[in-house]
Amino acid sequence: MRYSVKGGSPEKIVTECIVVSIWRNGSLSDEAKILDIKTKKLISGLVNSGDAIGNLGDTLLVYRPPNVSAKRILLAGAGDRKKFNASSAKKLIESIFKSCRKIGASSIHLCLSSCEPYDRDKHWFAARISQEAEVTGYSYDKTKSKKVKPWAIKGISISQEPRRQKKGLEASLKRGQAIGRAINQARELGNLPGNICTPTYLAQQANDLAFKHRKISSKVLSEKQMTRLGMGSLLSVSAGSAEEAKLIVIQYQGTKSDSKPYAIVGKGITFDTGGISLKSSGGMDEMKFDMCGAASVIATMGCIAELKLPINVVGLVAAAENMPGSKATKPGDVVTTMSGKTVEILNTDAEGRLVLCDALTYVERFKPRTIIDIATLTGAAVATFGSHANALLSNDQPLANAILNCGEQCLDRAWQLPLWDEYQPLLKSNFADIANIGGPRAGTITAACFLSRFTEKQKWAHLDIAGSAWLSGAQKGATGRPVSLLVEYLSQQKS
Ligand code: BES
Ligand code: MN
Ligand code: ZN
Repeated sequence: MRYSVKGGSPEKIVTECIVVSIWRNGSLSDEAKILDIKTKKLISGLVNSGDAIGNLGDTLLVYRPPNVSAKRILLAGAGDRKKFNASSAKKLIESIFKSCRKIGASSIHLCLSSCEPYDRDKHWFAARISQEAEVTGYSYDKTKSKKVKPWAIKGISISQEPRRQKKGLEASLKRGQAIGRAINQARELGNLPGNICTPTYLAQQANDLAFKHRKISSKVLSEKQMTRLGMGSLLSVSAGSAEEAKLIVIQYQGTKSDSKPYAIVGKGITFDTGGISLKSSGGMDEMKFDMCGAASVIATMGCIAELKLPINVVGLVAAAENMPGSKATKPGDVVTTMSGKTVEILNTDAEGRLVLCDALTYVERFKPRTIIDIATLTGAAVATFGSHANALLSNDQPLANAILNCGEQCLDRAWQLPLWDEYQPLLKSNFADIANIGGPRAGTITAACFLSRFTEKQKWAHLDIAGSAWLSGAQKGATGRPVSLLVEYLSQQKS
């Protein structure tokens, strides 16, 4: 898809669909006013007909408008002018692209420069437009025999005067496009079934990234190598599976090699049956999404390479399949982690923390400035936050604040839960240094408490994305979160 910035009067723009916005009180945006005059009050006629067309998210398509070069005009309701903020803008853009996709328009021109959200600038708005266009264009068909007809969209342009801002806005369109594509990549990996998207498949994705980007290198540790490193906890998860676990290391070098990196670590359970602590069968298919943290790491690494961020980043993926079997880990088994700490595995379904703890110990060797892990870790996070918030827990408040701010900025929001010492005793074990579960209460917090035992010396934050990473029901599918949050955070860091 091509994105561009066009100047000139809206009635002269040649496009399949020109989009202008209407406020809820019926007032026309500046561009809509121009089109209204040219079309001899076609638009104000519709607005004054009494039909409500200015509600946020509503759209109305006008075919073959007179005296205008565009084939169609799409009137997009923008809601209350005074309340038009970043979230409204997101909703407006989503509704526009959904309508355009439905009619199959192959070119679109957006005249929205007079309705920028009051809490963001032009560049944010432009990047959001291309991001949403990419995300709207995605559909899953990898494992369908009939392929979905792709959205035959060739070009999207936005209008902007004066011309001197063109370059900057085009850069923002590019940035949004890169983020949108990365979100789609994470969605695709999440949506792929567990019999295709195995630990080996994820490792291949990392190698593909290294092949594609000069500044990315990848390395995949086998079970044998992990045994040598003493990763008894990670390996306990894959013990019951025929699929070999992989620890995937992706390094992006965007600045001089001695600049300490930022680290992102993803949970990559390519299918979570629960192991011997077997899950109930209802809805178990959704546990193919248990690698969405890993998917967000892989997609983010590719995206920052495309954006050429001037920092170093290391992305780690702890990939394994959690299965029951004669060699599977049993409740009560005690394993030794790479850190030397022993863990009593009281529930084999609390496997995410078992793979992450060894990955978090391993990542120390890169001397990261900060570490963020991303994991579909607990059902309790779904119960607490539903699908809207990423749960955030951290041992470093400045880092937590940065993540909260970035989430607001890109609307991939996080909400912080406490990581107080008072919760730590819930992990007491009579037979090991620590138990892998903390009982039925405060599940998201005790899971983070477990991880915190392996990040004591680090500035570390944990994102539990169990609720945000995918949707259930009719819209079942991966959301690509929190790719935009991670990209936003890394974009704001310095080398
Ligand atoms: N992958 C699941 C968490 C999960 C559950 C995500 C439901 C999304 C929806 C994780 O491995 C898990 O099974 N967690 C257990 C932990 C418990 C045994 C302490 C959970 O949350 O039930
Ligand atoms: Mn589990
Ligand atoms: Zn899991």
